[in-house]
Order: sequence, then C-alpha cells, then structure tokens
Amino acid sequence: MTEHVIVTDDGPVRSVRMNRPEKKNALTATMYDAMAEAIETAGASGIRCVVILGAPGAFSAGNDLQDFLRFAMSGEGLSSAVIRFLYALARSERPLVAGVQGVAVGIGTTLCLHCDHVVAATDARFTTPFVSLGLVPEAASSLLAPRLMGPRRAFSLLVMGKPLDGAEAKACGLANAVVAPGEVDEEAMKAAREIAALPPEAVAISRRLMKGPPDEIVARIDDEAAEFRRRLQSPEARKAFEAFLARKK
Ligand code: COA
Repeated sequence: MTEHVIVTDDGPVRSVRMNRPEKKNALTATMYDAMAEAIETAGASGIRCVVILGAPGAFSAGNDLQDFLRFAMSGEGLSSAVIRFLYALARSERPLVAGVQGVAVGIGTTLCLHCDHVVAATDARFTTPFVSLGLVPEAASSLLAPRLMGPRRAFSLLVMGKPLDGAEAKACGLANAVVAPGEVDEEAMKAAREIAALPPEAVAISRRLMKGPPDEIVARIDDEAAEFRRRLQSPEARKAFEAFLARKK
C-alpha cells in the first residue's frame, strides 16, 4: 500500500492513478509494485478495463533517478518491482487505457506502447532520454515503438531523445485522441467505459489475436533489462544521474 498510487474501481473500470505530484510522478519500486498488483488482479476482480492516469502537468517523470542510482550501485539493475510491472503490462488480459497529460518521461512514454487506447492532452510531452542518460530503451520499447511508428520515428524518439507533443503522438499512432489537459482523465474514462461495455470474451479473444502471445514481448523486456543493468553501472549513466540530482535550480 502506498499513497503514491490510488486504485479506484468504478463498476467494471479500474483506474490506477500515479499520485506523487511533488516529484512529477517519478516512479519508485513501491509504486511499480502497487501498479503491477492493480493490473495483475484486475481479471479476478471482475474488472474489464484498466485506466492509467497521472496528475496535472505530470503523467510521470519516469523512473525515480535516486532509485536508479541505488539499484545501479547494488548491481541489481532494473528492480524486481520494475520487471514485475513490465510483465504485468505485457501479460495483461484486460485492455489498458492511458490518459496522459504533461510530462511522460521514460516509462511514462514506454508504458503507453502497451496500452490499447491512449488519450493525450495538448500539453503532453512524451520523451525517452534513455541514451542521453547513458542507458538503453526498456519495457520492450525497442520492439514495440519501431512496430508502431516505423524505425525512423522510433529512432528519433528512443535514441535521439526527441520529444513528441500530443498532436505528434497522435500523428505517429502513439495516441488515439488529443484533448485539453482538463479533459484527459474523463476522455480516458469514457473510452474505458466504452470498452468495458463490449462483450468481454470477444474483446479478450480479439486482443489476443491482435497482440499475439506475450512471449516475444516478455523476452524483449528481459533482453533490454540485461543491457540496462550493464548500462546502469556505466560511468556515463552514473554521471548523468548524479548531475540531475545535484543540479542547482
Ligand atoms: N527522479 C527523481 N526525482 C525526480 C524525477 C525523477 N525521475 N523527476 C523529477 N524529480 C523531482 C525533482 O528532483 C524535483 O524535486 P525537488 O523539488 O525535491 O528538487 C521535483 O521532482 C520536481 O521536478 P522539476 O525538475 O523541478 O520539475 P520541472 O517541471 O522543471 O521538470 C521534468 C520536470 C520531468 C522535465 C524534469 O524533472 C526531469 O527531467 N526529470 C528527470 C526525468 C528522467 O530523466 N527520468 C528518467 C527517465 S529514464
């Protein structure tokens, strides 16, 4: 249990809200565990759709950089909580919807690649600064992003670290719709209610047919995590984290 993730069931729709606005919803191991649990238990709880939401101005600033440093020092790499969350995304039997406003850094962007429907706000800023942090893409984004948007746009996002705003995210297929920031949660909930009202077995089978078995995605999560672990211990990465955490405002 953590106050940094609020899970609310509203009939057949479960919302999972990241709630650490003072840190722009940077994700800690505890938060990953809470989010993974909410997704893993959705099926057995009669939930038909899970919606992931953030806070005004901040969907998520990505992995907590202090945590990254800690796990880098211990040699663990991505924590078991991160991996659990990534597996939960890849294996979710229920459709996933995201409502993205403000910054969506790192996992804040790559989690959207696992979602079935994404509503972006006009102020959304999707960015994956992995390479400038001395790291490599995670969450199977090295597989899913080129598939979704083509290799060149994926390179621009994942390797060059070029951000996408809401409209650009829609243009490249990362988002379904772009709305005002104040409307993003309700639009995401509306889409989720629409999905939840469909015959659930037909939805589940269609989704399985469209996505294929999760094995390939899970294998890519593992491959990336192995590289990520090595990169976390690199002087390039440590220097980048320490510079961010020590920066003067
Ligand atoms: N990990 C830990 N703390 C973070 C964080 C992160 N990923 N992102 C933001 N924070 C903290 C800041 O240190 C600051 O804390 P403080 O008020 O105690 O100093 C607080 O959240 C607010 O962040 P701030 O940078 O002042 O907000 P901003 O609106 O100017 O910028 C971001 C927002 C997201 C652009 C900027 O915080 C950022 O670049 N964060 C790092 C993102 C990142 O590299 N994530 C890892 C991806 S792999």
